[in-house]
Amino acid sequence: MTDRIPPSGLPLASHAPGKAILFGEHAVVFGKTAVVLALDMGTDLEISGLRGPGSSTYNGSERAARGNPYLQTSLRTHPPPQPLDLRCRSQLPRASGLGSSAAFTAGLMAALLGMEGGAERTTLALESFRAERQAQGVGSPVDTSAAVAGGVLSVGARAPGDKLWELPAEDGRPAWHVARLPDPGWTWVVGFTGVPKDTATVVRRVGERVKAPDGPRLLERIEEIALQGCDALRAGDRAAVGRLMNENQRQLVELGISHPRLDDLMRSVEKLAVGAKITGAGGGGSIIVLPGPGDELRVGQAISHAGGVPFVVKVASRGASVQPLTGGPQPPGAGNRRA
Ligand code: MEV
Repeated sequence: MTDRIPPSGLPLASHAPGKAILFGEHAVVFGKTAVVLALDMGTDLEISGLRGPGSSTYNGSERAARGNPYLQTSLRTHPPPQPLDLRCRSQLPRASGLGSSAAFTAGLMAALLGMEGGAERTTLALESFRAERQAQGVGSPVDTSAAVAGGVLSVGARAPGDKLWELPAEDGRPAWHVARLPDPGWTWVVGFTGVPKDTATVVRRVGERVKAPDGPRLLERIEEIALQGCDALRAGDRAAVGRLMNENQRQLVELGISHPRLDDLMRSVEKLAVGAKITGAGGGGSIIVLPGPGDELRVGQAISHAGGVPFVVKVASRGASVQPLTGGPQPPGAGNRRA
């Protein structure tokens, strides 16, 4: 992707999409290949400047701003010219496995880089990943990449598709490559359990799990599935994608990331889905379902009857974007809401 984040003064608006991981969550933390979809549901920010030496606010509250690690990390690494007032509206439930923190971080980082005079999208990808990783303490760039690039992506030391960028890993591990895959244009259904998950805790638990003798083989198998998934997506082969999702689900259960509410939702779509699996960290959060053509509402109803929250989604082709709110870029200090 060659487009840049444009320069922008205040006030401004930004948007970034959420995500669902189709193949390879957890294994991607170890550099294995994952496939992620950017979703046509996301997070919108409206940002204006505050006058004076005070602190930034989040939805009107300084306390909420101080308590938001993604906000604090982003402001620390890219200090804005003045305290900010951030208003956030998101369609992504928090801690649902749908990338709400990555969408927030990428949208905010796009705004901060816009205020600094603009940046390459690759820079946005790197800075969003660093900020999310610092705030979370663990993790791969899979969520922030989807929020920054949009579309369908492969992420890992091996990433089939059209190369977008490369992000450094720590501990001497190979860098993560990020590449674009074609969007087959299908409609997907996400089912949120309503049970919030804690990504860092689940990622650390999986880190322990894969130290068992069968751990490396499990991760390799997940990568094989993801690589076959890339081919199936390129071929637009719905049956193969569904079969591979079901296969990936078996590995995720082996990793120990399921939850009774996830099991309920999985059971509810068993007879309707071409494929279904947990998406994201697990331990709560959501499932992603590939329905048969035209079956999305029936799948949504089944999820709803099982007590989940269904979202019928498509891939969002665009990643994070920034635009001035009124009348084009303005000098810092313009558009103050607080005297
Ligand atoms: C979280 O959306 C996906 C995980 O693979 C963690 C990560 O990649 O950062 C579980």
